Amino acid sequence: MEKNKKEGRYQRIFLQLGDLLQKSENDIAKMATISAVLFNKFEYFFWCGFYRIVDGELIVGPYQGPVACQVLQKNKGVCWAGINQKETILVPNVEEFPGHIACDSRSKSEIVIPVKNKSGEIFAVLDVDSKELNSFDEIDKIYLEKIINLISN
Ligand code: SME
Repeated sequence: MEKNKKEGRYQRIFLQLGDLLQKSENDIAKMATISAVLFNKFEYFFWCGFYRIVDGELIVGPYQGPVACQVLQKNKGVCWAGINQKETILVPNVEEFPGHIACDSRSKSEIVIPVKNKSGEIFAVLDVDSKELNSFDEIDKIYLEKIINLISN
């Protein structure tokens, strides 16, 4: 997607989500709203959703797209890397990411953003997959991080 078009769309979505989430007190409701809006606004989002840390495991939360793994093997793959490294992980080609967990073999590139509570502790991740290589860049990183901050703020 062209850079300016992508940035403009993210700016509009950020405002829309800010308005929608302001009325909610519930993290799951916020995650469901974010996945639905993002998935329906970006054609290249093939899978878009959350994994939540529950009793030390990563369990699938609200999402849009094809059926995904319900539990992710501990300390393996991109989602756990985001949690363990405490930062956004951009994966231009999933086949080159050691330990990548393929819930759907059509996924080719991926971005994972850790979700923090008000104290700065990570309690979930947002995961977005694309069927194309190299789909995610610095613009996705910046705006998805801003959007994710709406959950705790
Ligand atoms: N690829 C992820 C697993 C989740 S699916 O992409 C929906 C990972 O390696 O953690």
